[in-house]
Amino acid sequence: MPNERLDKIIASMGEYSRKDVKKLIREKQILVSGKPAVSSDLKCDPDKDEITVCGKPFSYARFVYLMMNKPAGVVSATRDGADRTVLDLLPAKYRKREVFPVGRLDKDTEGLLLITDDGVLAHKLLAPKNHIDKEYFVRVEGRLEEEHIVAFREGLVLSDGYQCMDAELKILSLNEHTEPVSSEALVVIREGKFHQIKKMFGVLGKPVLYLKRIRMGDLNLDRELECGDSRPLTEEELKGLSDLVG
Ligand code: URA
Repeated sequence: MPNERLDKIIASMGEYSRKDVKKLIREKQILVSGKPAVSSDLKCDPDKDEITVCGKPFSYARFVYLMMNKPAGVVSATRDGADRTVLDLLPAKYRKREVFPVGRLDKDTEGLLLITDDGVLAHKLLAPKNHIDKEYFVRVEGRLEEEHIVAFREGLVLSDGYQCMDAELKILSLNEHTEPVSSEALVVIREGKFHQIKKMFGVLGKPVLYLKRIRMGDLNLDRELECGDSRPLTEEELKGLSDLVG
């Protein structure tokens, strides 16, 4: 990484503001390669220079990669005039960075959403040619049967004439004692058109009642993650995603 101002490097991790950094420098609480930093505009390379803040090694990450369990009712956008966005749910330290959601889930869809400030990886993950698997848990109105599995496998044609790629439908259960009668299933698609799952079930006459994304490529939604919470990806999870797109 090219040399950057010390205050910018430290403030980018969200724990300290530039003002805090200035104060800590005055108090000789920030060391660069063992020596107290003399000014906030000192140029450093965080990958090479050893920086300590208040006696603790400062760990720098160029990009942040977060997994969120998106709740219904918030929009997958960086800003919105009317609704809360997924960024409003992040801890303050991440909101200071220029993070954005990778792709969109509908306002009423829950589940796995990747949030990052790494534009290159996001672009690759969203590139249609990469055909990343996306798996959803879905509850639909009505009864799902073998013929629907076949229709998904053969590639549905949406009401606007779009020919979907083949997709997988695995029926989990039928709730006969609910009003309306509903079915639960897992669906895997390899593309991501606007409202795709809802449109696919729509042409089969099975309105979607509930939708939750549970996997993208090898990245599974952490079952421990409460709705609305997020956590950094582990190194292994990040490697899995990067390997997927080369
Ligand atoms: N398909 C949909 O219809 N909605 C989503 O949010 C994601 C996939």
